[in-house]
Amino acid sequence: MTENLRAKIEAALAEATDLTTLENLRVSVIGRKGEITDLLKSLGQLPPDERRQAGQAANELRDWATDAITDAKNAIANREQATALATESIDVTLPGKRRKIGRIHPISTTHAQLEALFTRLGFNILEGPHIETVYHNFDALNSPQNHPSRDETDTFYFSDSLLLRCHTSPMQIRVMETQAPPIRIIVPGMTFRRDEIDATHTPAFHQMEGLVVDRGIHFGDLKGMLELIVRELFGPEAKIRLRPSHFPFTEPSAEVDISCYSCKDNSCRVCKGSGWVELWGCGMVHPKVLSMSGIDPEIYSGYAFGLGTDRLTSAVYGIADPRLYFENDMQFLGQF
Ligand code: PHE
Repeated sequence: MTENLRAKIEAALAEATDLTTLENLRVSVIGRKGEITDLLKSLGQLPPDERRQAGQAANELRDWATDAITDAKNAIANREQATALATESIDVTLPGKRRKIGRIHPISTTHAQLEALFTRLGFNILEGPHIETVYHNFDALNSPQNHPSRDETDTFYFSDSLLLRCHTSPMQIRVMETQAPPIRIIVPGMTFRRDEIDATHTPAFHQMEGLVVDRGIHFGDLKGMLELIVRELFGPEAKIRLRPSHFPFTEPSAEVDISCYSCKDNSCRVCKGSGWVELWGCGMVHPKVLSMSGIDPEIYSGYAFGLGTDRLTSAVYGIADPRLYFENDMQFLGQF
């Protein structure tokens, strides 16, 4: 009986050339319902004098089959490995993949420089929400219903009452609503407008709002601060120009320009031939805005400015195209 079984297993082993066949063989012979397993189970039915001899033979057969199948499996695995070693290869002379370490984005550097300056001057640094209420973005800033910036063609709306802030000025309101003067804050952050992308516009860009509210603050304080900022970034030679302007939330209002950083002969597309580049808006906080936010304009006055920090960064590094800030081109970013 065991002789036949052994011969059968030997024949199957001789034919098996892969691991799956061998595993199937193992299951059919010494698995839970395998032939040798069955044989061992049936020993109990034999008369006691035959049982001993048959048991020994069956156990020997099981041990032999176990070893034989394991050996055959190992032989195949070794052969497969040898083939793989002979046919597959790794070219260890190929250059490795260098892990790229990022750099600080130039706009972040400008923000850090300005934050350091304002921290020295005793300002608090705050951030505001990108998604703003129409109230904080426009109404509380005294913006009339028909103001062009309120149009859907200019601003990204989520609904009648929510939008992507188009400037950092709503933070003026949020701070005045919750803090009593003296207030000295800056608010760096991203702002959004429906602008076509060109050499001077991107639909997302950065601003840094400044707000100072205290007793006796006047336009001279604002001008002195603007000059301080420009000197900090461009050195003592840098020139600014203040142009009368209009913002609903400041009165009087001004536009701050810096001498063109891209050309010397008033000929380039950055300054559109004027020799000056508009960097930011500013002015004295409108009395209506103060009182709407709960601050008495008879006692307090303030100034505010909104720095366009992308353009400021362009001016510092002589970058002519703001699209570069958002393209994540490592060759561009790696320079800073
Ligand atoms: N929020 C204005 C803008 O984005 C800039 C500004 C800020 C003007 C503060 C005056 C005072 O154009």
